[in-house]
Amino acid sequence: MKLFEVVLLSFSLSGLLFRQRKNKQDNKDAHLPRHVAIIMDGNGRWAARRRLPRTAGHYAGMTALRRIVRCASELGIAVLTVYAFSTENWTRPKEEVDFLMKLPQEFLEVDLPELKRNNVRVKLSGNPGGLPSHTREAVETAVAETANNTGMVLNFALNYGGRDEIVRAVRKIAAAVAEGTVKPEEIDEEFFNKFLYTADLPDPDLLIRCSGEIRLSNFLLWQLAYAELWFTDVYWPDFNKQHFMAAIEAYRKRDRRFGGVRP
Ligand code: IPE
Ligand code: IPE
Ligand code: MG
Repeated sequence: MKLFEVVLLSFSLSGLLFRQRKNKQDNKDAHLPRHVAIIMDGNGRWAARRRLPRTAGHYAGMTALRRIVRCASELGIAVLTVYAFSTENWTRPKEEVDFLMKLPQEFLEVDLPELKRNNVRVKLSGNPGGLPSHTREAVETAVAETANNTGMVLNFALNYGGRDEIVRAVRKIAAAVAEGTVKPEEIDEEFFNKFLYTADLPDPDLLIRCSGEIRLSNFLLWQLAYAELWFTDVYWPDFNKQHFMAAIEAYRKRDRRFGGVRP
């Protein structure tokens, strides 16, 4: 074989290998959930089991979040929404609420440089008005500093309630109708969706809830209409890459029909 023939052959072989690898990748991506939402639950019970204060559980939960954000971003998940504080969580003891309100600041202070390096865009879903200024400022700074990033969206559901979100949307739409800028017949699902915190995001494909509770607890009531649900008894601070991959694997095996029938 002449030299140029050897070069030609190795070129076409490497092209074939590259195509095969790319196809595999495309295939894998096709079955990945675009948007994963997580109810990070069980911090208190994780701590109680260790005879620690509940706040220690929340602190450990932050480490789990760090782990899963890294993992989801590496995997190529487009949106990761994490339920960090619900509109109902204000009913907890003041010390616990105060501690929880310091965590976003602490998380972002350490992690913002890495999030930026990894092209992650931070987003807030929830009512910022109800947050203490130090919490709001930490999140808003992260949102502003990552606004042009094009990688994974890390969406913090903070002071978030599904019913609160829907009522706020209804109020805005009702005001627009009263002003005459919107006609009632213009209101359809797509229009309504634009008034939600998640207006710019696809609906979650997969919802993960840890800690053994099988409920939504007022999370993304509108957006989860057709999400696949996955539950585990694992407490959030123990939740790791293997658990996350197990949820993704389960999702990949689901048959999503959206009310239709298989062709
Ligand atoms: C989830 O853990 C964190 C938040 C709700 C902020 P919990 O604090 O609800 O832990 P459990 O459910 O009491 O174990
Ligand atoms: C849901 O968990 C809220 C968050 C994880 C932030 P909760 O612990 O507040 O929910 P319930 O009380 O078990 O329904
Ligand atoms: Mg809980």
